[in-house]
Amino acid sequence: MTTNTREHQFIEDMRQKLGKRLVILAHHYMSDAVARHADYTGDSLELSRRIPDLDAEYIVFCGVFFMAETAAILAKPGQKVFIPEMNSRCVMSDMAPAWLAERVLDTLAEGGLSVTPLTYVNSSAAVKALVGSRGGSVCTSANAKTMLTWALAKGPHTLFLPDFRLGFNAADWIGLPKEDRHIVDVREHGRAVNLDKARRAKLLLWPGQCVIHSRFKPETIRKARAESPGCLVVVHPECHPNTVALADACGSTSFIIKFVAEAPEGSVIYVGTEFNLVNRLADKYRGVKDVRPLLYSTCSNMEKVTEPNLAKLLADLDEAPTVQVDEALKDPAKLALTRMLEACAR
Ligand code: 13P
Ligand code: SF4
Repeated sequence: MTTNTREHQFIEDMRQKLGKRLVILAHHYMSDAVARHADYTGDSLELSRRIPDLDAEYIVFCGVFFMAETAAILAKPGQKVFIPEMNSRCVMSDMAPAWLAERVLDTLAEGGLSVTPLTYVNSSAAVKALVGSRGGSVCTSANAKTMLTWALAKGPHTLFLPDFRLGFNAADWIGLPKEDRHIVDVREHGRAVNLDKARRAKLLLWPGQCVIHSRFKPETIRKARAESPGCLVVVHPECHPNTVALADACGSTSFIIKFVAEAPEGSVIYVGTEFNLVNRLADKYRGVKDVRPLLYSTCSNMEKVTEPNLAKLLADLDEAPTVQVDEALKDPAKLALTRMLEACAR
């Protein structure tokens, strides 16, 4: 249960006062205390899709930094993008620094490989710009299958970064044989890449992963099924492919919400993703469906965005630091994102 705090009232007063000048977006992993103030909640794809259509002067993004940075890349000139906590970083996105990604791509190119880079949206603006400038694009957990197909059609090799698990799961969904995949060795400043193995693979994967989702192991699902025979299990595609293989369904945070909504009344549903979302679903369906966390796993960076720091930001939007993207990165990063939005236009 979320209580009505002093900050709650203040944020609602500010929303009232600023009206259409302010839009608050919140990722599904935000706590209830934050999510209840959002004009829009969504998964990464849905929230990115919203940005180009927003006319608000102030866009406040409640999520991790790469999400707010993506909003700043897609925002119109003059719009100001904010995040309540600048230090809310996605650990996985930091596993692929742009300088290293560039060196790996250079090593592959020097080895004669023609590579289309495809970055998960959980990456910095610099990585998106690099990918955009090398003919590549972006994907989210909701469209990884479509975008991997897109990238593989562009040439003999695709480098998927930074999440090798999402890359593997997407490869499974499109039926890409295991022998066509290779996890690249990114050590020695990008010089340790095994070019022979890379040459034989269609899909090259960066060795990054989400620590929050790597906790969901196949044994976790076996234990849940033993405890509740007949239960349903749904997981996020940042989980290991062996975990995904044992689940009934796998998809983005919005997919998970839909899966739970459509599950029959009386079902027991184990959910393998960040706890705030699972907890919200458990509250929503209490007494109708039994929604349980597969395991208690929280994203400490998402949790850095709180109702008090949202209130503090709104108290002085004109003085607060905005999310800045280097001008030189904006166009190529936007190009990479636009390729995705166009390839996945509904
Ligand atoms: P979604 O795009 O599925 O919301 O996932 C974002 C994320 O960071 C999951 O860990
Ligand atoms: Fe990044 Fe994992 Fe947190 Fe998602 S849950 S924001 S991938 S660290």
